[in-house]
Amino acid sequence: MGKRVHLGVTGSIAAYKALDLLRLLQEADCRVSATLTESCARFVAPLTFEALGAAPVYTSMFDEAPDADTAFGHLEPGQEADVMAIAPASANTLARLAYGLADDMLSCQALAFPGPKIVAPAMNPRMWEAPATRRNWDMLGELGYIRVLPGTGFVACGDTGTGRLAPMEEILTAVLKALSPQDLAGRKVLITLGPTRESWDAVRFWSNPSSGTMGACMAMAAHLRGAEVTVVAGPTNLTFPGDISVVSVTTARQMFEACADLWPGMDAACLTAAVADYRPVPFGDTKFKKTSSAGAGITVEFEPNPDILKSLGQAKKDGQKLIGFAAETDNVKEEAARKLAAKNLDLIAANDISRPGSGFGVPTNQMTVLDESGRMETWPQLPKTEVAWRLWDHLLLG
Ligand code: CTP
Repeated sequence: MGKRVHLGVTGSIAAYKALDLLRLLQEADCRVSATLTESCARFVAPLTFEALGAAPVYTSMFDEAPDADTAFGHLEPGQEADVMAIAPASANTLARLAYGLADDMLSCQALAFPGPKIVAPAMNPRMWEAPATRRNWDMLGELGYIRVLPGTGFVACGDTGTGRLAPMEEILTAVLKALSPQDLAGRKVLITLGPTRESWDAVRFWSNPSSGTMGACMAMAAHLRGAEVTVVAGPTNLTFPGDISVVSVTTARQMFEACADLWPGMDAACLTAAVADYRPVPFGDTKFKKTSSAGAGITVEFEPNPDILKSLGQAKKDGQKLIGFAAETDNVKEEAARKLAAKNLDLIAANDISRPGSGFGVPTNQMTVLDESGRMETWPQLPKTEVAWRLWDHLLLG
């Protein structure tokens, strides 16, 4: 929050997408300044960036940004901004950055920028494949640039291939990661999230309204802090950055099998999934017809599903850390303490899902957190993103 990101935008038909990146960064509570190359200003006017709240906005070397509080505009971002992100970066800009040229405002600022620098190219696929661009790209890696690969598909000039600017969410994630402490680097973490779905007949299933948001926040927080993240996801609408590996499952038994396979190689697991404790004994593979019961009502039988968290707790080895969640409507603290012990957890995060602002389908949670040393904390209602950040602090940093 409150960090400053300096955006470099170069001459590309994708330049207008930098406006979306500006918005996303602002929504993430970052301040944004920008430098537009002269070719960029032919595609999108500096005024558009200014009107959307970027400040200062630089263009040419000898025309200082009016609201910059220094006479040295080529040095100012390096002194004041936390991260520099050049998106879209043209082939020309990649070459300038690779060779350390300083012949326009953006290349000077990049050369004088001591912090993390992100580069996300956009260009024609033949320009991207050209040996000179390949060499410049490799050199940027050696120079320590954080490189966001372009995507593949149709490009504006009608060709198909690699060269489209990466999705804004990928670039945003790279920026947020560069702003985050890498205190989970080298750790492998497993997250379960979302509901499970248990079929009863060919068209009906037993499930719950979990959206997977809390688990997604745990996964993103761990990813931003440098962990290697694997998500085992029940059916949700969520998408994740390419660096997070996702195993999609439907039923509790599939989730159980995926987790049992993955757990021995993990340093920590956090199980947020709303797993169906019981599954209906299937009516069959076909569709149940009303005429089958002739209006007399039906009885559905259930059988138990495996308790994934409990089985990971039983298999836990020294050094592995396990976090469980508890969704309760009564006796929150007592139930949390019981589950912490019964499932051999290091930490449990319990929420009272009967309270507004806590539980399914809302962006906030109000947690009571207990650990195996007996420490108990009750947190105020917080965004799930903040809950996730604090839980990793609590578990891994003491
Ligand atoms: N969990 C699990 N496998 C299950 C049921 C639950 O891994 N079959 C995990 C959940 O992901 C959560 C924790 O266990 O981290 C607690 O889930 P919850 O439904 O609150 O508790 P249960 O143990 O199922 O007990 P109850 O439903 O009776 O409260």
